[in-house]
Amino acid sequence: MAKVWSKRFDNTLNPFIEKFNASIGFDRKLILEDLDCSIAHAKMLGKTQVLSPPETLQIVNGLKTIKVEYLEGKFSPGFPSEDIHYCIEEKLISLIGETGKKLHTGRSRNDQVGTDIRMWLRKEIDNLEVLITDLQKSLLNLAKSNIYTLIPGYTHMQRAQPLSLAHHLLAYLEMFQRDRERFKEVRSRVNTSPLGAAALAGTKIKIDRNFTAAELGFEKIYKNSIDAVSDRDFSIEFVSSSAILMAHLSKISEEIILWVTDEFSFAKLTDKCATGSSLMPQKKNPDVPELIRGKTGRVYGHLQALLTMVKGVPLAYNKDFQEDKEPLFDTAETISSCIKAMTILIDEGIEFNIKNLSDSVGNDFSNATDLADYLVGKEVPFRTAYQVVGEIVKYCLERKLLFKNLKIDELKKFHHEFEEDVFVDLEPLNVVKSRTSEGGTGFIQVEKEVKNWQKKLLL
Ligand code: ARG
Repeated sequence: MAKVWSKRFDNTLNPFIEKFNASIGFDRKLILEDLDCSIAHAKMLGKTQVLSPPETLQIVNGLKTIKVEYLEGKFSPGFPSEDIHYCIEEKLISLIGETGKKLHTGRSRNDQVGTDIRMWLRKEIDNLEVLITDLQKSLLNLAKSNIYTLIPGYTHMQRAQPLSLAHHLLAYLEMFQRDRERFKEVRSRVNTSPLGAAALAGTKIKIDRNFTAAELGFEKIYKNSIDAVSDRDFSIEFVSSSAILMAHLSKISEEIILWVTDEFSFAKLTDKCATGSSLMPQKKNPDVPELIRGKTGRVYGHLQALLTMVKGVPLAYNKDFQEDKEPLFDTAETISSCIKAMTILIDEGIEFNIKNLSDSVGNDFSNATDLADYLVGKEVPFRTAYQVVGEIVKYCLERKLLFKNLKIDELKKFHHEFEEDVFVDLEPLNVVKSRTSEGGTGFIQVEKEVKNWQKKLLL
């Protein structure tokens, strides 16, 4: 088929370059957005009387027919059209003839592609909002039934202080909440219409940018036509927010991978989300969290690709920008599938070994701070108490004992303020219960937070 721009050229494109130049292989994903964008543009040209009423009707109906054909599987965009924008224009012309050639009046593919991609991304962000909320709900359900389940808390991967398992899980709800907020902010900037900026300078054709913006559900329009066709910040922001989300997913994945090892045995995988080894019959592998952890790199890579794509690119549109689509599409697809997989894993893929968890918090020195805080309660300065407990830990380690194995007389040798009631303070449940400061792991606080989340997530 002759190219739309072919008159200016004497020769046809080198066949390899023709393929190299084409984006139809991936931007056909934007077909519905492109059709809606064109319908809005045609209606606008009708309203401003650039197109006559019959022309407008013919074009709009032609575009609607293409939409129906596509949805019924009778039309599939592809090579040799260069991209989805040319593809639809060519198809319209072949469908309705000469009038179809009027569609591109007063616009350029530069503002068109920017509009399509923003519409597509806006829809993706709306889907993500639902998916992340579902994941939060699943985590909250798990938290709700584990307020009184204890789990060792770590810093530097060393036992630190025992925690309510619910408190640990709620930490992820907070992270995912920030992710949702970030996407919401990104959406507000995505929701700005570049349509009508034309190639870069605007147009002398009588257009109404606010009309097309309103038709397509945009909140506002770009104020500067050059910026409108050059701005890819919104793609970078989206992928950047996705990268942070993936960091969170990767973190919880790593924890699950550790928890289900024989060494930790804090949890086990159910058959729903685990796979076997082709060789070792005893194996049950955590493929789901490993895949999520692995896919994180992919999203980080896309962020790097986009940042590099815009670096040093002069105003205005440059073909480099065609390269924004694959990273963007893959990011959205990757994070959606990872969020879904994690939600299933939380819902039905993992079971905690409550006994192992409570045994492990009772068999370490993670109550050492509480021993020191006991003395603080008796007016001993914290730094002094800290040193005293350090000596006690050393004493215990040399004798392979825990605090609970010591006699009160032994403790008194380290500090006279120790009394029999100290052993009550050292019990893991009491250790956790006592952390009543706001945002702490004390059960009262955790109960309160579970309730807050239930309200927030409308459960
Ligand atoms: N396929 C192109 C892209 O995705 C559409 C815009 C082309 N504009 C141009 N001036 N060549 O960026």
